[in-house]
Amino acid sequence: MSGFSADWLSLREPYDLRARSTKVLAAVAEALAALPALTIVDLACGAGSTLRAVAPHLPAQQIWKLVDNDPGLLVRAANASHPRARVTTTTIDLVRDLEAALDGPLDLVTTSALLDLVSDSWLERLATEVAARRLPFYAALSYDGRITFEPSDPLDAAIIGAVSNHQRRDKGFGPALGPDAAKRTIAMFEAVGYFVVNAAADWVLKPHDRDMLVALVDGWASAAREVGQQSLPEIATWLTHRRDALPHEKSSIRVGHIDVFAAPIARR
Ligand SMILES: C[S@@+](CC[C@H](N)C(=O)[O-])C[C@H]1O[C@@H](n2cnc3c(N)ncnc32)[C@H](O)[C@@H]1O
Repeated sequence: MSGFSADWLSLREPYDLRARSTKVLAAVAEALAALPALTIVDLACGAGSTLRAVAPHLPAQQIWKLVDNDPGLLVRAANASHPRARVTTTTIDLVRDLEAALDGPLDLVTTSALLDLVSDSWLERLATEVAARRLPFYAALSYDGRITFEPSDPLDAAIIGAVSNHQRRDKGFGPALGPDAAKRTIAMFEAVGYFVVNAAADWVLKPHDRDMLVALVDGWASAAREVGQQSLPEIATWLTHRRDALPHEKSSIRVGHIDVFAAPIARR
């Protein structure tokens, strides 16, 4: 069990799908368009949402190697399907055995909503291993620290500051990059001579996205409580105001993410 519930992954999947940058996805598709058959590894695949989002954009016959350390999520991922995709699943702890996940012939390394959980040194290990194999790398939906509320509340900045600090806590990979993940990914791949495309992939949530909004504001209040920078009455006041604001017609919440595609220059 990883702590990422299947319910949460299924709740966020349509928002991830909508947010994914079409510009970055088009760059991925273009880079792979000439290959008649593709083998793709999805690191930390969860319940298989990346396959569902990406497979329709890749023309060739596809073999998807789905990797996660949560066997329960992998059972769900095994059912991810697309007419052009053949799916295999493997339980791998990416902290211990990242290199095993990259074994064998591959044409693309992809991941979604993972890099903000990892440490700088683990990301460097990943970038080194991917670059050593001259493979293209597509990382979607890394949280970048931008959370904005309409209407705003005086306590928003303090709560979001606490959320960013919570994001930097160790998630099993060492101190997490949190909001710096995409920036560091871009810098590392540029440093190894890759061509990098990146773009925003933000969730934009309106009152009709109620279940997602409630899950987010409740989650942020819990994170702020765990970090302990604000008093409990302050957090409770913020949560009450936020919950009250959710149904209002003009209310919205934007959560910033960045998508990145990095390819060896020779593959362009
Ligand atoms: C936020 S979820 C993203 C899942 C999926 N990529 C998606 O976009 O829906 C993070 C995923 O990382 C996986 N994970 C966390 N630590 C891991 C580790 N050490 N090795 C492999 N997977 C891990 C979790 O099980 C979870 O599926």
